[in-house]
Amino acid sequence: MAVLPIYKLPDPVLRQEAREITEINGDLQRLIDDMAETMYSAPGLGLAANQVGELQRLIVFDVSHKEGRPRKLQVVLNPCIVAGEGEIIREEGCLSVADFCADVRRHAQVLVKGLDREGKPVEITGEGLLAVVLQHEIDHLNGILFIDHISRFKRGLFLRRLKKQAAAR
Ligand code: NI
Repeated sequence: MAVLPIYKLPDPVLRQEAREITEINGDLQRLIDDMAETMYSAPGLGLAANQVGELQRLIVFDVSHKEGRPRKLQVVLNPCIVAGEGEIIREEGCLSVADFCADVRRHAQVLVKGLDREGKPVEITGEGLLAVVLQHEIDHLNGILFIDHISRFKRGLFLRRLKKQAAAR
């Protein structure tokens, strides 16, 4: 297993749509293990394949530690939100968006369908933090970042700061 480099804004891979996974092979299993290690070492609550430069519909996440339970890695291939309801506003950050957090409004409960790492169908019902993480990571696979959900004003402030930092480098 290896810790992979995490791609950060403004890398274009974060704005691309990931492709459906059609073949489950050794390379994919290695990518899953590496993404898990990368997420835990960051540390982060979730990671989407775009963030390590792979345009495949794959997310890994684990909110159990944050909720006081032992570590439990979850992996979903080709995840899809099939239902969402309620509303939650929570502060989010992202391993691909350095030094910035903001409140984001999302569904408070979601039902996600996809495949597990062996290709068997899975359904995950997420509430609260898990619902937020699922929506955040699935957004990544569609080239969407949490800053796309905040006000234009706040996003403008952030993007100007990012530009300044890039110019100073
Ligand atoms: Ni993220």
